[in-house]
Order: sequence, then structure tokens, then C-alpha cells
Amino acid sequence: MTLKNNLFKHEKHLRFIAGIIFMFLAIFLDTWWLGIIALISFMTSSYNYCPTYEVIGINQKESKRNYYLSKFPLFNPEPVLLFKEDGVMDFTNNAGKKIFKDIKNLYEIYPKNSKEPYQLIKEDDSIFNQVKVGDLTYMIHFKGVSEIDSILAFSFNITDLVKINEEIINTQKDIVYKMGEIGETRSKETGNHVKRVAEYSYLLAIESGLSQEEANTLKIASPMHDIGKVGIPDSVLKKPGKLNLEEWKIMQTHAQLGYEMLKGSDRPILKAAAIVAKDHHEKWDGSGYPNGTSTDRIHIYGRITAIADVFDALGSRRVYKEAWELDKILELFKEERGKHFDPKLVDIMFENLDKFLKIRDSYQDV
Ligand SMILES: [Fe+2]
Ligand SMILES: [Fe+2]
Repeated sequence: MTLKNNLFKHEKHLRFIAGIIFMFLAIFLDTWWLGIIALISFMTSSYNYCPTYEVIGINQKESKRNYYLSKFPLFNPEPVLLFKEDGVMDFTNNAGKKIFKDIKNLYEIYPKNSKEPYQLIKEDDSIFNQVKVGDLTYMIHFKGVSEIDSILAFSFNITDLVKINEEIINTQKDIVYKMGEIGETRSKETGNHVKRVAEYSYLLAIESGLSQEEANTLKIASPMHDIGKVGIPDSVLKKPGKLNLEEWKIMQTHAQLGYEMLKGSDRPILKAAAIVAKDHHEKWDGSGYPNGTSTDRIHIYGRITAIADVFDALGSRRVYKEAWELDKILELFKEERGKHFDPKLVDIMFENLDKFLKIRDSYQDV
């Protein structure tokens, strides 16, 4: 963009016409200074800038405004980058030079699995990507500019937004863990049980093809599966011996109770937790509780948490029982494949057994 101080849009065309008139006048009147005026008119008609205005101070404000506009990307506090069609960086402003100093190619900040840049240019489409630079997080908006076969990248510092979001998620996580622990403490489970259940659930979610977002939500929600136990009387929950039929019925209400406690919320994590609470004792063959739901009518969150919870509970020592040997646990899962548990999820568990054991080792009970 060149320096402009024209008064109106077609001024340079008018100067060209004026140049022709002055040239003819200079020839016909044989006047040398008209010739110079003609020459100046021709020269200034080739660009949008009139030095005469500058000298006599006409339109100075407009001139300055145009100057700043032409330099605007340069002074923009956030990085602005321009990439050629092949991805090589073509231009960056001062902020870009400072903040993205190591970026030389589009593909270093362009999102993977997105469209090819040439598509972006041709369709004049927009693509966004989040990039971390040191402690800062930038949202970059890629825009195709078909006139110059380039990709323009505007960026915005969203570090504070990301931090606030993380803070909200972490607060939810803490509360949910604490609630999960309350439920588990009442049933004599340990604090690390909820952490391991969270990790197993996440692993099963990812390996069974749920999205990253769903897997994260389930990871936070699954530890709350037994929150309904806060509503079970001590006489049942802490009874040392075997429960009689009536007591067992009371015990089973913890699933529905947990669901009732959590179902009212619009928050995705609490919504997922409500589902987990309701469905974690349902069985694949329909013999579970509270509703006797079967097969994939049981929510995937419930089917996953069931496996995570049982795998961990069996492998952990409790005051009333010793930890089961791994062989015995695996035997049970083989037996219950398609009865208690979703057969596909059991297969996934066996395929990823090494990862399960790694989780078990990293969150050991002390
Ligand atoms: Fe339970
Ligand atoms: Fe549990």
C-alpha cells in the first residue's frame, strides 16, 4: 500500500486529463511553465499521492490517516502473518517477528487434518487453530486471499481465556473428585480408587472411539458413580456381614439416588455423572439394576464405568477382602463378557491390558 493523500477516488485520473490539457496548452501557447505543470500532473497521476498538497498543507489529516492505515498490520499488537501458496512465510508484522520468531512455514502452525491451503485460498474459507508459544496461547485465524494466492494468518492472544476455562474445569474436577471420594469413603473405598476409575474410564473411552471431549468428560464424571451411597443408611452400608434381601434392595437404590441428585444440572460433566450413577450397575444381559436395561441401551458411559469400577475394586485390598490376583480378575472378565459387561469393551480392555496395569501401578494405595 502506497502513501495516499488524494481528496477523492478518481483524482489521479483527473490529474492525467489535466496533464494532457496543460501539455496542449503549453504547445499551443508556447509557454514553458505550463509544460512543467503538465509534467507534474502526469507524474502525480501515476500514484495516489500529490506532493503539492504536502507542500501547501492540503488534506494533511487524510494523508496521515492513510499512512497509518497502510502501516496498520505493522503496528497491530497481535501477530499478523502472510504465507505463500507453498507455505513459506512471506510477511510478518513487528509483533509476529517477536512472538512467532521461530515460525518460518505455514505448516508449523496450521492445524493437522484440516483442508489443504490451496482449498482455503480458492474457497476464501476460514480455518482456526490454537497454538502454544511458550506460556502464551494464540488463536490463529487463517484466511485465503485468492488475489495474491496467499494465506493470511491473524492471531489473538487467548492465554487469559484458556486459563479461566482451565480454572473452571479444574474447579469442577476437584468438586467432582471430592464428591466421588465422599461416596466411596462411605463404602470403605480408598481415595485412589476414584482416580484409577477415572483413568481406566478415559482409556476405555478413547480406545472405543469416543471423542477426546467425551473421554475427558467421562474421566471427570466416572468417579462419581457411587455418590448415591451418601443416601444409604450406615446400618446397611457399614454392615460387616452379608446383606439380607431387604438390605440389598436398599443398597441397590444408590444408583437411582445418585441419578436423582445429579440429573437437574445443565453442566456437561454433571450430566455425564448422572448417567454414570444410573447405569453403572446395569448389565449387558439385562440382569442389572436399577432398570434392568440391556446391551447398548445402557449408556456407553455406564458400560465403561462398570468395567473400570469392577476391575479396580477386585484388584484392590479392602478391610473385608484381599486383593484378587490378576489372573483371577481376567478370568472373571472372560466369563462375564457378554453377560455382565459389554463384550466389545472387554475385548478392548484385554487389548490394552498393559496400559491398565500401568495406571494401577501409578496410583497405588498406600
Ligand atoms: Fe455402585
Ligand atoms: Fe466404585
